[in-house]
Amino acid sequence: MCGIVGYIGRNNAKEILLNGLEKLEYRGYDSAGIALLDHEQVTVIKEKGRIADLRKKVGNEAFGEVGIGHTRWATHGKPSEENAHPHQSASGRFVIVHNGVIENYASLKETYLEGALFKSDTDTEVIVQLIEKFAQEGLETKEAIRKTLRLLHGSYAICVIDKNQPDTLFAAKNKSPLLIGTGTNFNVIASDAMAVLKETSEFIEIADEELVILKRDQIEIETLDGEEVERAPFTATIDASDIEKGTYPHYMLKEIDEQPAVMRRIIQAYQNDTGEISVDQAVLDELLASDRVYIIACGTSSHAGYVGKVLIERLAGIPVEVHISSEFGYNMPLLSENPLFLFITQSGETADSRQVLVKVKEMGYRTLTLTNVPGSTLDREADQAMYLHAGPEIAVASTKAYTAQVAVLSILAVAAGRARGNKAAIQFDLVSELGIAATAMEAMVSSKELVEHIAGEFLATTRNAFFIGRSVDYFVAMEAALKLKEISYIQTEGFASGELKHGTIALIEDETPVFAIITQENINWNIRGNVNEVLARGANACIFAMEGLEQPGDQLVLPHVHELLTPLVSVIPCQLLAYYAALHRDCDVDKPRNLAKSVTVE
Ligand code: G6P
Repeated sequence: MCGIVGYIGRNNAKEILLNGLEKLEYRGYDSAGIALLDHEQVTVIKEKGRIADLRKKVGNEAFGEVGIGHTRWATHGKPSEENAHPHQSASGRFVIVHNGVIENYASLKETYLEGALFKSDTDTEVIVQLIEKFAQEGLETKEAIRKTLRLLHGSYAICVIDKNQPDTLFAAKNKSPLLIGTGTNFNVIASDAMAVLKETSEFIEIADEELVILKRDQIEIETLDGEEVERAPFTATIDASDIEKGTYPHYMLKEIDEQPAVMRRIIQAYQNDTGEISVDQAVLDELLASDRVYIIACGTSSHAGYVGKVLIERLAGIPVEVHISSEFGYNMPLLSENPLFLFITQSGETADSRQVLVKVKEMGYRTLTLTNVPGSTLDREADQAMYLHAGPEIAVASTKAYTAQVAVLSILAVAAGRARGNKAAIQFDLVSELGIAATAMEAMVSSKELVEHIAGEFLATTRNAFFIGRSVDYFVAMEAALKLKEISYIQTEGFASGELKHGTIALIEDETPVFAIITQENINWNIRGNVNEVLARGANACIFAMEGLEQPGDQLVLPHVHELLTPLVSVIPCQLLAYYAALHRDCDVDKPRNLAKSVTVE
């Protein structure tokens, strides 16, 4: 949610900032801007729309050896050039980019900035105006920033330029991600290492409520109380080529195709020397000590969580509840005596999930994060972590992270079940079953032509659509619906097929597309009964059935896999369906409207 990049060095910052923003565009893409500082001269260039639009506007001339850039996902104030970052203080001396939300910006404005002229509707402008006010009152820049930060409630990652100190870049964070990248004769700041991998692979973490003072060849980190902080750098493990599209037209398609390989990587990562499934003992101990697991997640990750519930309950015999983060924190249910909180989050940065983490930690409960991003906020702040090994996921619509989440949850469930002596887990040859699933996934990613055809037939012009299923197929139906609506803008619901007749069937009209997912033998005929009900009301039904359960006329047969692992396979044609529906409807697949990949505001 909003991406920040900053540079101080000996080269022109322009290209480094624009390249960085392109890599961060997945975080928000409604407007963007850069500020370049050349001696004491600041140039600010902003544009509504994509980085490509900004690039055109910036042109070839702009120059500065110090610069900051921002790509925005609007929270306060509509997407426009005025509301795009960077924002400048009234005199123009200070320039800021900000990611996050300042909750008390209105009261700060009223208390400290009466009469000040504001050029935007953003909460950010308050920060830069406050810095200027305190600087005008005689504080050194560093002190003015520090004083301002102490007044802020909410989340922020900021990067600040002071025209009067052209050899320094200031940065700070609280609850929003920000990293320092180090180099010879230059330093960079970024919301995500991906933004600056071209420049460096050496990074230093910034903790909440720290202030960073960067020069070309010097890095100082201090707490808000002025205490110096020493922190060793780490080397990023992502490869710059992992974040390129290569020959693919879209990241989403590339990431769909990567899923079988991710499965194999996961199998390897969680295997011991004897080829057995193996999970870190500390993680396992947490799970075994708990009497109930509370899965906390948002969006796609919560859909993987529902599948995880089935896996953990059936294989480990531990009760599991799945909760949406944004609800849980504010309407907490009665908790069991020894709960374990399991946060599932691709990015590890989702603010809705983090607010729950902070609350349950304060309550003294144990926490485990399942994430794709080592070093992310939820990774660092939870007691334990497990990784997805899916490689960077760039497309806003999550695909390979979902299947990786399901796979790692199956590993956790089997490991815990075996440790508890659970027969179902002991008998489950997960390494081999995941291998079979990976092969089935390969077959599914190769079914593009068929799925493209189905998308054209069922979804090219429709206003709405339904996905139905029962048991784990219902959970996949929810994920399939999310995929389709987020990138094709077709109003779609994922529904428990038995529940349809209790109201929602009223929405079925002539030609309404209804996709049924059938992978479980015990409910094959119940779902087919529900399909008949919608067919009788004019729906256009399309069935994806698992090998062995298929009937003549089914549109797609899913290769057979273990009944607990079917989501790994059945979700793939649904992802492809969304992809091709979006293409048919001329939508921007990788950057759907109104969305962002990493949502760091509540
Ligand atoms: C955003 C993304 C979704 C994602 C959700 C949770 O809304 O657009 O694709 O599922 O955040 O993200 P997380 O990183 O916590 O899994």
